Amino acid sequence: MSRSLWYKHAVFYELYLKGFYDSNGDGIGDVNGLREKLDYLQDLGIDCIWLPPIYPSPEKDDGYDVADYYTIAPKYGTIEDFRCLLEDVHRRGMRLIMDLVLNHTSDQHPWFQEAKKGPGSPYFHYYVWSRTPEKYTEARIIFLDTERSNWAYCEDNGYYYWHRFYTHQPDLNYDNPEVRREMKKVLLYWLDMGVDGFRVDAVPYLFEREGTNCENLPETHDYVKELRAMVEKHYPEAILLAEANQWPWDLLPYFGDGDEFHMAFNFPLMPRLFMALKTHDVSPIVKIMEGLPEIPSSCQWCNFLRNHDELTLEMVTPEEREYMWKVYAPDPRMRLNLGIRRRLAPLVDNDERRLRLLHTILFTIPGTPILYYGDEIGMGDNIDLPDRNGVRTPMQWNTSLNAGFSEAFREKLYAPVIDKGDFSYERVNVESASHNPSSLLSWIKGWIARRKKHPVFGMGKVEFLSGKDPALLWYRVYNQDEEIMVFAFFGDEEKKIPLSFDRWRGKTLKDIEGKKSPLFVSTKDITLSFAPYEYKVWEVKEG
Ligand code: NOJ
Ligand code: CA
Repeated sequence: MSRSLWYKHAVFYELYLKGFYDSNGDGIGDVNGLREKLDYLQDLGIDCIWLPPIYPSPEKDDGYDVADYYTIAPKYGTIEDFRCLLEDVHRRGMRLIMDLVLNHTSDQHPWFQEAKKGPGSPYFHYYVWSRTPEKYTEARIIFLDTERSNWAYCEDNGYYYWHRFYTHQPDLNYDNPEVRREMKKVLLYWLDMGVDGFRVDAVPYLFEREGTNCENLPETHDYVKELRAMVEKHYPEAILLAEANQWPWDLLPYFGDGDEFHMAFNFPLMPRLFMALKTHDVSPIVKIMEGLPEIPSSCQWCNFLRNHDELTLEMVTPEEREYMWKVYAPDPRMRLNLGIRRRLAPLVDNDERRLRLLHTILFTIPGTPILYYGDEIGMGDNIDLPDRNGVRTPMQWNTSLNAGFSEAFREKLYAPVIDKGDFSYERVNVESASHNPSSLLSWIKGWIARRKKHPVFGMGKVEFLSGKDPALLWYRVYNQDEEIMVFAFFGDEEKKIPLSFDRWRGKTLKDIEGKKSPLFVSTKDITLSFAPYEYKVWEVKEG
């Protein structure tokens, strides 16, 4: 089946609808608000928007507790508005993927409300019940800060129900063929409407088996294959993106033989980028990247720096985690579960050099980059808000009332706008940044455009070149037509580093941003100078 592999060349943008733009002044971002801001995204060069869940929900986990899979929450608009959004997105040549919460529903979902009536209810077996909480004891608890067990007692029927996340998120029972069918229907419903695919939530946990950690089970892969086959049959251009926070060897099977997910988040890479900024040692990045298994040619890694959750530290060693907490979350309030609930810019002390360094890697390392709304202007966070809400504050558009996000009274905003300190909307906002050619936003826009001119970034292979200096990450991305060299210096002091360029003797190295004059490689060794956190990206040209 021929497919365009569009997702390999795309730039994705995760956008928290509630926080993007409020079109009707009720203090909550909405579908029509997003429609008004599509020009901004198009101008930035975004190809695909990912919307975290916007279904009706009691919102105890910000929409990841779904109460109805077949419509959107009224506060976001009507399903008609949503159809119009899809049209607007597609008219611009862009795409939109939704979040698909397969693993669990809200306890307010009618299925669970029915199931609570007990084994006589036709929905009882939609969920995972047990007489005792002694089953599946090898499964870890994910929301460590709030949950004590993966089982919760149901007063109504005297059984315990299984939940991998919050108590109010009962896991669906995928051993029940009806559940498997129901969720397929959900996919088709939205695909029929025109969505371009799904970011699939919490994939590893669909099935439970005694004697295992209840993650990544073969049954889960079988079901994913069924979903993929269905998508492939009806909508061969649509994609499935896996949220599986796992080690590389457990991630690989989610690509199957090109018959499971099209894409999977590259969770193991992300924390190592932040770690290297503090240790000035890039070896963990190289090690994890070299250890990433080869994936089927139609598949793709999805790289990210931050998202709507805490910066997860599940994919590092316990020692590395302690270190990351120490250096990045000195205030205990900054910690959450196994992670750090801060945004990108504050994590790097709002240092533009470090922001650019990290983004250079995001835009050049193999995979598809995904940006988190607000990070392109260096927005801050608010740790006074509970849970992960501090990284989900309103988008800062301009210096007017409520940062231009909403015309509501400020008391009515779903969350306060950041209005103090270095990250206040008066300093950090889209309007000012877009008028400033040397802003982070302008620079990111330039990079997105550049990325599109060089298909090698989305499709090429990578080779890590052993540097002489622990702080220097040096790699080349290449295919038959192009070769591009990337230097990312994680040192905080200026340094001259002698490097062997023998392989490139007789070639010319051309600064991809056109800021420096080309360098002809005439000798075996060249000493390069690096300013703190400097990056260089060079195209290798003949002669
Ligand atoms: C992962 C989502 O990213 C997170 O926000 C959510 O709380 C859990 N899955 C549970 O759905
Ligand atoms: Ca609104």
